[in-house]
Amino acid sequence: MWRASVITIFPDMFPGPLGASLAGKARAGGIWDLAAVDLRDFATDRHRSVDDTPAGGGPGMVLRADVLARAIDAVAPDTDGRPRLLTSPRGKPLTQARVAALAAGPGVVVVCGRFEGVDERVIAARNLEEVSIGDYVLSGGELAAMVLIDACVRLLPGVMGKEASGAEESFSDGLLEYPHYTRPQIFEGRDIPSILVSGDHGRVAAWRRAEAERLTRERRPDLWAVHTSGMHGAQAPGTPPKKATDG
Ligand code: ADE
Repeated sequence: MWRASVITIFPDMFPGPLGASLAGKARAGGIWDLAAVDLRDFATDRHRSVDDTPAGGGPGMVLRADVLARAIDAVAPDTDGRPRLLTSPRGKPLTQARVAALAAGPGVVVVCGRFEGVDERVIAARNLEEVSIGDYVLSGGELAAMVLIDACVRLLPGVMGKEASGAEESFSDGLLEYPHYTRPQIFEGRDIPSILVSGDHGRVAAWRRAEAERLTRERRPDLWAVHTSGMHGAQAPGTPPKKATDG
C-alpha cells in the first residue's frame, strides 16, 4: 500500500479534500493510506513549543531542528525508504515527472513548512527535499502537501477509472490539454467545432493535437520550448525514458 505520512502542527486539516472524491474512495478501498502526525507531540516543554525566534534576529519564527528531527525519526526512520519532502515556496517546483516518480515508489513523508522557515540543519541532517507547488506564498505547507499527495494518488494503479484519461492529459506528453465539448450542440450561439462531430477519428486526433500545440505555444512558451527541443522527458529523474510521441 502507498503510504503518505504528514508532519504538521495542524493535523486536523487532514484528510480534508483527500478524504473526498477519487482520493477518498481510493483510501477507503485500501489503495493508499494517510497518517497526519502532530508535530507538537514531539515537543518536550510544557508549552509544547515547536518554534523559536530566528538566530540573527528578524521577524517570524523558525521550526526547531530538534523537535522536527524527533518527529521525522518516529514517523520514518532511515529504514523506512520513503522520500522525505518539505513543502516550501523556495523548493524545487513540483512537476508531473516528479509526481509520477513519487507515485511509483512506496509513498512519501511530507513535512509541512510553517512560519518563516525551518532550521536549515534539520533539512540537511534528515535529507529533506524542498518542493514548491508554485510561485506564490501560502500561509503554510499543509495545502501544498495535499496538492502533492493528491497528484500522486490519482496515478496509483486502480485509482483512475479509465487508464487512458491519465495518459492523454496535460503534461503527460509535455503539451497542455486540447479543448473539450459536449452536448448541447449549440450553446448560446456557439457551435461544437464541426470536425469533432464528423466521425472522422483521424481528423479529430489531428485537430486535438494542433489545438494542444496552439494552446501550449500561446500560454506556456516554457513548456513549448522544451517540447520543440525534443528534450521532453529527458530530464525526468526516476521515470523511464519516454518514447517520442510526435507525428
Ligand atoms: N508553503 C507556502 N507556500 C508554498 C508553496 N508555494 N509551495 C509549497 N509550500 C508552500
